[in-house]
Amino acid sequence: MPRSVLNDGFFESFSSSVLEFDQAESLPPACYTDQEFYEFEKEALFFKEWLCVGRESWVKEPGDYFTAKHVGEPLVITRTKHGEVAAMSAVCQHRGMLVAEGHGKARSLVCPYHHWVYQLSGELVGTPAMERTCNFDPAKHGLPRLKVEIWQGFIFVNFDDNAAPLGPRLASLNEVLANYDLASLDGPPPADTVRYNWNWKVMFENNNDGYHANRLHRGPLHDPVPSSLASFPELPADTAGYYRTNGSLHPDVSFNPTLKALLPVFPKLTDAERHRVLFVNVPPTLSLVLNTDIVLYLITHPESADSHTMVMGAMVLPEAMENPMFDRLMQINQEGVQDIVAQDLHVDELVQQGLKSKFAPRGRYSWQEGAQRQFNVWLVDRYRAGWEAMKARAQ
Ligand code: FES
Ligand SMILES: [Fe+2]
Repeated sequence: MPRSVLNDGFFESFSSSVLEFDQAESLPPACYTDQEFYEFEKEALFFKEWLCVGRESWVKEPGDYFTAKHVGEPLVITRTKHGEVAAMSAVCQHRGMLVAEGHGKARSLVCPYHHWVYQLSGELVGTPAMERTCNFDPAKHGLPRLKVEIWQGFIFVNFDDNAAPLGPRLASLNEVLANYDLASLDGPPPADTVRYNWNWKVMFENNNDGYHANRLHRGPLHDPVPSSLASFPELPADTAGYYRTNGSLHPDVSFNPTLKALLPVFPKLTDAERHRVLFVNVPPTLSLVLNTDIVLYLITHPESADSHTMVMGAMVLPEAMENPMFDRLMQINQEGVQDIVAQDLHVDELVQQGLKSKFAPRGRYSWQEGAQRQFNVWLVDRYRAGWEAMKARAQ
């Protein structure tokens, strides 16, 4: 019978993962493979932290809505008739059907099963043939609401009504992002959600790993952004996100065959900013890759210890989209990025296999893996708090 990993000794063993990079080792492999640990993560991270669900521009007008799913919880995000962004569970409070799928525009959310009607802000306002039902108060059966916060044009939701606001803990990121004006950028709809059979943290770590850049991706497309120019600024201890800058060998570098930005460059960027690529992580769900003409966003939705889905999209200056050649230029960008992404996905898949092995390591880090240690610090703080809370509840 396998022994549960949820014990004091296991959590104490995390201490070696938050040392400085020259001392630290990676988290125990079970953190990436154990389903019981994933269930623990749901409580310790996903039902406590701010989770990105999409862009505010996806719900521009009253009635616009889209759906998302985090840790298996179906969600619907709307623009209400009063113009606010609202996030709710998409689970009908009658018998559990989902009140929305995909995205669209509607005056209200009508459950397809028995036509209960919810306002775009979640209140139950229509309940056919329920007039003979005793002690039934529709006001008590609205869709459960989640807290919402908009940061840099991204919508974040939180299952925890008592969660502290996200924005103040992202001040360091706001500084480094200021000249990209993310909230003003636009972009084509994101590509379809894709499922990946590996732990969400394997994906998250790969998204900001400076070490592999000119090794796994060695070749003319990626060589202008060498690992040796990676830098991991130290941020305040309570930061909710972190970033890496990676210097480039020429300005406005881009992963396409011209190696240069194909779209208009963000006009406020300084010379120094044009000589680097910026990688931003807001765990546990959002990663950004910022070139000087295009910003890629990756939104990770965990499903189990072994799987997650991801939404990937691009943002550009609104005027870039007016160019009649925009789709062609995006296609060229996409083809370059696709090759790089394919290399990453291959590695991610095999890393998950390796982490399940009895020979899985607690590995040591290079100085070019500063982001892995930053992620460990973010995780371990929350793992420890979650474990203490769990023990307190059990008493
Ligand atoms: S399950 Fe939604 S109305 Fe019955
Ligand atoms: Fe990569």
